[in-house]
Amino acid sequence: MKGFSELRFVGLKLVIFVFLVSFTLMLLPFHIFQTSAIAHINETYENIYEQSVEGLTKSLSVGYFLWHAMFNAVQSGNQDFVDLMFQEILEDFPDVRAIRIIERPKEMAQERDFEVFVRQDELYAFLNIRDSLSQNTVEDSVVLVSLDKEKTLARLSMADRVTFSNSGRKTFAYGLRADIKGYDIYNWLLFHSFVAGLVGVLLMMEVLSVGFSRYHQTQGLQTTVHMWELQDPYTTFHSKNVAKIAEVLGKRLKLKRKKLAELVNGAKLHDIGKMGISTSILRKKGPLNEIEWEVMFSHPERGKNLLEQFKYLGEYVPYAYMHHEREDGSGYPRGLKGEEIPFEVRILAVADVFEALTADRPYRDAYTFAEAAEMMADMPLDQDIVSELFSALPELERVLNPRTAESVQGAFDSVI
Ligand SMILES: [Fe+2]
Ligand SMILES: [Fe+2]
Repeated sequence: MKGFSELRFVGLKLVIFVFLVSFTLMLLPFHIFQTSAIAHINETYENIYEQSVEGLTKSLSVGYFLWHAMFNAVQSGNQDFVDLMFQEILEDFPDVRAIRIIERPKEMAQERDFEVFVRQDELYAFLNIRDSLSQNTVEDSVVLVSLDKEKTLARLSMADRVTFSNSGRKTFAYGLRADIKGYDIYNWLLFHSFVAGLVGVLLMMEVLSVGFSRYHQTQGLQTTVHMWELQDPYTTFHSKNVAKIAEVLGKRLKLKRKKLAELVNGAKLHDIGKMGISTSILRKKGPLNEIEWEVMFSHPERGKNLLEQFKYLGEYVPYAYMHHEREDGSGYPRGLKGEEIPFEVRILAVADVFEALTADRPYRDAYTFAEAAEMMADMPLDQDIVSELFSALPELERVLNPRTAESVQGAFDSVI
């Protein structure tokens, strides 16, 4: 993770922002899942709970209050029988907290066997007392049953998920308020999201810092080279044109995208070592003396040393260092031969020579593209690449010509 050392270039606000975005993106789906899971649990539990309470009340109704013995006992005031039955109910039905006969309230109609209702957050039921055929109903009184809502919950094994509470946020069965627990994964989830946030920040640092540093270093140096070349009308577009030629050749020779981009950038930087050389040597019209040649020959080495100062430009060093090496070992600085020179650098060497031959020089006019290619067929360059250059000539005409004043202006615009 090269990005760590670049942390100082990343603003704290951005780090916090990316952390929060990653954190939220991680947490959000789980939160949505949790909310929907709780809603589903609520609905399911509510149905089960209501069914259970209805079932219990119906059992009481059918078992004890649609029964002529009970009907007669109530009508005749046989309290002993009623008490006995109530005692039996309390013993057999743990969910029943209390049971008694009360005066018929207005809201309990005679037509219904029973009705469950909530009063002050407690669960009750009214039951009508009828004979076995449901033909006669006790008119002035009904049975009031107080139900133990907690026991019903426990009997249904819901007690660990649902808690009745007056301040409960959810409406449960019969409108009772309750807290309903979801899946207890929040702690794990928070930790997970926290880690995701950190990973997001690290990734951002890696991508932004390394990517942008590399981009700015590359672009910065390329612009510097180009501005430097603009000082000399004969080499104004040398590096840019070499990059264009190298790109055409690289594509035709089926370089992978990453290698092609490396070649194009390397081509733009290949002569960067010349920046340290005096213009009196670079622009000398007459022949160079021995010392001047030595200085000229040093530009690959200078380019290598310069690029090595930049953290992310190591991949372009071979382009600066080896572009004057030749197939037969006659090049410089090391006299490397053939395959010892990387393939992409051999493409660059062909592009470099072709550009130099087809550009005007103080001491001669430019060669035509065909003339230049012919001359190159006899040079110690990779001849497979030179052959490709021959077939690419029409395309190169399109890409390179015309080298006009407009393109000079364009170059200034792009630099500014
Ligand atoms: Fe060069
Ligand atoms: Fe060059």
